[in-house]
Amino acid sequence: MGGKWRSSLGLLLAVVHLSYQVSVEDSYTAAVVELQPTYIHNNADATLEANTNLFAEFIRNASIQGADIIVFPEYGLTSVSMPRRADIETWVSVIPSASEEYVPCTGQRSDVSKAIRKLSCAAKENRIYVLANVAEKEVCNQKNNECPSLGTFYYNTNVVFDRRGKIIARYRKVNLFMESDLYDTPKTPQIVTFDTDFGVTFGTFICFDILFRTPSLNLTRENKIKNFVYPVAWDSETPFLMAVQVHSGWAYSENVNLLASGFHNPRHGSTGSGIYLGRSGVAKATFSEFPKHKLLIARVPKIPKEVSDDNEVPMEIQPKMKKTIKSSDPWLVENSDVPYNTHGIRVTYNGISVQLDYIPVFASIPIRNSLKSTLCHGPFCCNFDVQTASNDQSSLYRAVAFQGTRLFGLQVKAGIRACGVVQCSDDSITSCGSANQDDTVFEKLEITTMLDEPEVLALPTALDTTLLPFENWTYSTQTVGTQKALRLKLDSPMKNVVNLGIYMRDFKKDKWRN
Ligand SMILES: *[C@@H]1O[C@H](CO)[C@@H](O)[C@H](O)[C@H]1NC(C)=O
Ligand SMILES: *[C@@H]1O[C@H](CO)[C@@H](O)[C@H](O)[C@H]1NC(C)=O
Ligand SMILES: *[C@@H]1O[C@H](CO)[C@@H](O)[C@H](O)[C@H]1NC(C)=O
Repeated sequence: MGGKWRSSLGLLLAVVHLSYQVSVEDSYTAAVVELQPTYIHNNADATLEANTNLFAEFIRNASIQGADIIVFPEYGLTSVSMPRRADIETWVSVIPSASEEYVPCTGQRSDVSKAIRKLSCAAKENRIYVLANVAEKEVCNQKNNECPSLGTFYYNTNVVFDRRGKIIARYRKVNLFMESDLYDTPKTPQIVTFDTDFGVTFGTFICFDILFRTPSLNLTRENKIKNFVYPVAWDSETPFLMAVQVHSGWAYSENVNLLASGFHNPRHGSTGSGIYLGRSGVAKATFSEFPKHKLLIARVPKIPKEVSDDNEVPMEIQPKMKKTIKSSDPWLVENSDVPYNTHGIRVTYNGISVQLDYIPVFASIPIRNSLKSTLCHGPFCCNFDVQTASNDQSSLYRAVAFQGTRLFGLQVKAGIRACGVVQCSDDSITSCGSANQDDTVFEKLEITTMLDEPEVLALPTALDTTLLPFENWTYSTQTVGTQKALRLKLDSPMKNVVNLGIYMRDFKKDKWRN
């Protein structure tokens, strides 16, 4: 008790001190842009000019609305249609490091592109912090045997300009997703942060990075960064990895503010932007076929609401319920190092084409009215306590559990654990991951599991038929000896449920192929 008082008083003093020193406000105004860039075939100059002009218009509009910082999507300047490595030269720019204190708007360097110059000028004219994701080139010495044969490294890079147009951060994407024909992985991953004149230190990373340990969890867990700027071109997947669902789940799990800006191309599954406020939920989010450009603005408290890591009320975790169901798929359990692959199936909901996870490799059990069981996939178990009413015959729900590995793209095998309730459109397990309107009301839904591995990232995932997360649930964790108990519980009756679950990344099982 005494310890608790001390720590909250300490926090209070820190807050007062910070606001006195830097700014009287305890919040700032954030803007994120959902955007579909223009691509003009084989014409880098015209493509970059069209997109830079569009960025400049958003920068102006966000500044008029009082935004302190604005974030643009991954591939927002170049589009994803830019040519591959051999023909990339006209699409890229040198990006001076923050320590060079370079202001492209007024500087003379000829290796910094016109697009970068214009963005710097737009930041300066509108007195706003700007994050753009760009194609960066770094010329290297070919005598150095790490230098590629063309004498140039290419990176997927975030560049941040301050209110004077100065470059204050440069981050090169560490976890590339099917981009190796285009970009290099930096030899040494960098943990990148930058300070602002409104008293907030931001961390930054890019898209797929969110599902890995480095650099995102270095920033939250070691560097204790509480605010993030994050461009994405996310290809959504039902039922666990839809853009807003997983981004808000990460912000919730780490209890940080995440400003996520999404590339818009719904025919290829790309949409989803938002301003996520840690445990306080979603301030603004979009996941929609239209419009193709959208500006989201919200006030963001500089320090997310404090939460204690452990619940004060002990949880009633039964390690195993009376009824324990074992997976009927021993092959995958015994070979959990053999990754499964989703089958590349895409389904269109509300005009957005999304991928489907491959639920048949999960242990699963149908939910008919009620379920009170432990479901195990190999040694990994999830407890379910579910009660439904007014069953809609059009779909069926299943409780699912998984521990093993899967492929993301072709290059990485990733450790996954999951517990969840998922919607299926008929009796077959292959139909799971559907997102149809459904009148089944979940009156009770509680999922618990035990984690024996502190390095696992656990995301609460919720999704309804709007394809956005719903918010009527409580997630809590509690240390039990050397393990951690996780509990996700629905707070009020819900229908149109697509998923409620806990999706976990088990980094120790990860393996990259080169
Ligand atoms: C900027 O604001 C103006 C005036 O409200 C609006 O007409 C224009 O479409 C906006 N531009 C963008 C890119 O949203
Ligand atoms: C990030 O954290 C991991 C795990 O603790 C550590 O091994 C790695 O060295 C860190 N990376 C950097 C760049 O600090
Ligand atoms: C969430 O819970 C609140 C308070 O119980 C209730 O008013 C609201 O209707 C619920 N929302 C949904 C979508 O069920």
